[in-house]
Amino acid sequence: MTDPGHTRLLLIGGDTSLWIGLSSIASATTQIFVPKGTGADSIAAAAADVEVVVVVLSDQGPDRMQPLHLIAQVGLQRRTVVLAQPEDHSAAAEAVLLGVAGYLQQGSTPEQLAMAIQQVTAHGVSYDAWGAAELHSRMELTDPPKLFPNIGAAKALASALELKDTYTGGHAERVTGMAMRLARIAMVEGALPSEVLEAGFLLHDVGKIGIPESILNKPGGLTDTERRVLQTHPILGERVVAPLGFPECVREVIRHHHERWDGKGYPDRLAGTAIPAAARLFSIADVLDAMTSIRPYRKPVSFTNAIREIKANAGTQFDPHLCALVDEAFLATHDDAARFPG
Ligand SMILES: [Fe+2]
Repeated sequence: MTDPGHTRLLLIGGDTSLWIGLSSIASATTQIFVPKGTGADSIAAAAADVEVVVVVLSDQGPDRMQPLHLIAQVGLQRRTVVLAQPEDHSAAAEAVLLGVAGYLQQGSTPEQLAMAIQQVTAHGVSYDAWGAAELHSRMELTDPPKLFPNIGAAKALASALELKDTYTGGHAERVTGMAMRLARIAMVEGALPSEVLEAGFLLHDVGKIGIPESILNKPGGLTDTERRVLQTHPILGERVVAPLGFPECVREVIRHHHERWDGKGYPDRLAGTAIPAAARLFSIADVLDAMTSIRPYRKPVSFTNAIREIKANAGTQFDPHLCALVDEAFLATHDDAARFPG
């Protein structure tokens, strides 16, 4: 861990009042620098010996992202906290996709900014994206070396998300049960310990804790911008669990559960067996539960029809070898008449 008493901070953008504000919250030995110019060379030179970068995005149209792109060009995004305009979801999505370590809205309190800077300096990531500070404090109570693989911690984080995402009540527990059945039949369980698989499945959507509730709980369709914001949740989730010491498989399920067999998924557009096996099988259970669950804006599909739909997408959306196992995994254990009375 870097000595917080000797933090060197590069400030890009922002006005004099922010400089003064930052100076007031930074500790006495924190040095604040600004680049001598606005080009990539100036930024790279100024950033050569700093622990953290703060980029302030203006509200002046599409060029507002330019400083952040310069930071990414010189590979400094993992040490960068972005301050953007409130509700600028497009900038938020792009910042996350560029891999920045922290994201705050302008107008955040000095204490929030100081906490984000401290987290990036100490851990290389801030959990305050979109104000999810409560999640960080939850994790602060835990002791990473004892967490492997802690199902209780996974359940607590999954239930924290359900407080926000009101449409998908019980989804994490339900889909975990379904994915475990498929894992058992596909013999992925065994190759990977069941506790590890269960933790990954429970936590698959934990990154949604960083997505605005106005998007998570919006009835009906999303705009393109809202969809891009929502599609950052696998990346956010991966960062949320990074300090918890879970095995690689847990991270893989979280990051890759929206990849598609044909390479048209997100966030990495992996295809075929390049997608980790646990993520490939989880995506089938995820879609199956989404289709058969009640949503305010549509009726659930019957289990039999949902299975048929999954198999129709074998080789495009889903791993065809896993699709061949869905009848055995799910049909025998579900009774449509009981699930959809009347
Ligand atoms: Fe998801």
